[in-house]
Amino acid sequence: MNIRAIAGLVLLALGAWALKSIFVAPAPPAEPVVWESSQQCAQCHAQVYDEWKVSWHAQAFTDPDVRAQTNDFANKDCIDCHAPQPVLSTVLGDRVLPRTTRMIEGVDCIACHLTADGRVAGTVDNASAACRPVATRDLLKPEYCAGCHNQHGTVDQWRQSKYAQPGPGYQDCVACHMPHRDGDPSKGRDHTMHGGHDIAIVRRAVELRVARQDGAAVVEVENTGAGHNYPTDERSRASDLFWRTLSADGSKGEWNALHRFRNPYRHEVDLVNTELPAGQKVTLRIESEAARGEIEVALFYKLSPYYQDPQRPDPEREAQLVHSVRLAP
Ligand code: HEC
Ligand code: HEC
Ligand code: HEC
Ligand code: HEC
Ligand code: HEC
Repeated sequence: MNIRAIAGLVLLALGAWALKSIFVAPAPPAEPVVWESSQQCAQCHAQVYDEWKVSWHAQAFTDPDVRAQTNDFANKDCIDCHAPQPVLSTVLGDRVLPRTTRMIEGVDCIACHLTADGRVAGTVDNASAACRPVATRDLLKPEYCAGCHNQHGTVDQWRQSKYAQPGPGYQDCVACHMPHRDGDPSKGRDHTMHGGHDIAIVRRAVELRVARQDGAAVVEVENTGAGHNYPTDERSRASDLFWRTLSADGSKGEWNALHRFRNPYRHEVDLVNTELPAGQKVTLRIESEAARGEIEVALFYKLSPYYQDPQRPDPEREAQLVHSVRLAP
């Protein structure tokens, strides 16, 4: 071997060493870190943190509606799921336990990711990463969400749906609510986890179809996109169907109520649960003479069920439009 070849090899070796020191993460700290706040995770997982920060999980303890209904958490029973201990420290699927520290962080990184022995649960074992995540399949199981999300039956509704059947149509909670960023599995999962607060997600849940049959208007609503009842979970949610006449001069009639999808509060004993299960549809007919002309049929979504004037509800001001269809005479 000549001097040049040796020098070349030495350079190669040096280069490889330099590359290695750039690309291999620094060794983890000798002592395991004690995880006390989600702020600690923010330093290294800024993107996840920013997504979580605008999620309703991050606001579970500060959300004004929750503060009002829990009497500022004077009702201690409400703390359990709104400021929980780590989910993985209880039996998967059992109701979670309340915590007494950093309650303001609500359902945070630690509540979802800390294992019973104080380590970080992830998708892979990675002893060289600073937080040393350990692989656990539990994070992807619907039972994991059930510790908090089954009190109004969302997970049971899912279990009865086609999405829970093994096979190509299988879709769990995470598949719909934590999609891979940009649809790319290597980029991890979106932690924004929006539901009823994001009308774009609500629009994906249902289809609205309207047709004429012997002059009457036939309205069909089908739950094609939610993996559970529509609207699910929180009893205050309601989704209302209305119709109104449209005149040739552009004027519009008053809204007429046609149907409401909702799971009533327990004290509303005169109401039945009209949520629309996954994959099912309802068909309604508008027989009114007035509906034989041009009409508009619209489906609205409300975070809270009440209208200011129940006799003359104004969904355009007080609810959000999901879908609307015009029907010719
Ligand atoms: C077993 C877990 C659990 C307990 C206990 C619990 N909650 Fe909740 N709460 C949830 C979940 C999960 C949601 C989100 C579901 C949804 O928005 O559809 C929620 C949402 C809410 C909301 C709706 C906030 C919004 O987004 O508009 C209010 C208000 C609320 N809870 C009040 C309470 C009150 C009051 C108590 C105590 C009486 C309580 N919660 C106890 C799990 C729980
Ligand atoms: C000092 C930096 C640092 C801190 C602090 C930190 N992590 Fe990590 N974490 C990493 C690195 C580096 C990786 C490996 C690369 C990656 O997957 O992003 C990792 C990986 C992970 C994974 C596994 C990713 C996968 O694909 O399975 C999870 C989950 C995780 N961290 C959660 C947390 C949580 C929760 C906290 C706070 C309790 C935290 N980390 C604190 C640096 C950190
Ligand atoms: C409501 C529960 C929940 C909360 C809150 C939560 N995570 Fe996750 N996280 C998950 C689930 C579920 C996965 C998906 C695991 C899988 O794909 O196997 C995940 C995946 C991850 C991953 C893997 C890589 C990626 O980007 O998907 C990291 C890193 C992570 N979480 C960090 C955090 C941090 C940091 C916080 C707080 C800012 C946080 N998580 C809050 C449930 C949660
Ligand atoms: C430790 C309890 C807990 C766990 C575990 C949990 N959540 Fe939640 N989740 C909540 C609470 C509490 C709220 C309501 C927060 C609020 O609105 O104040 C909520 C709200 C939501 C919302 C509604 C957001 C909106 O727009 O109103 C969705 C969607 C959601 N969670 C999905 C999930 C999924 C999917 C999982 C499992 C991967 C999961 N959650 C795990 C407690 C939990
Ligand atoms: C096929 C997709 C899909 C699957 C699977 C799915 N969801 Fe949803 N989810 C939706 C859509 C669409 C909405 C909005 C319409 C609604 O509220 O029903 C929603 C809404 C929600 C909400 C918000 C309710 C509110 O009041 O704001 C929660 C909480 C939720 N889902 C939890 C879950 C849990 C837990 C699972 C697993 C057991 C799950 N979802 C499975 C599509 C899905």
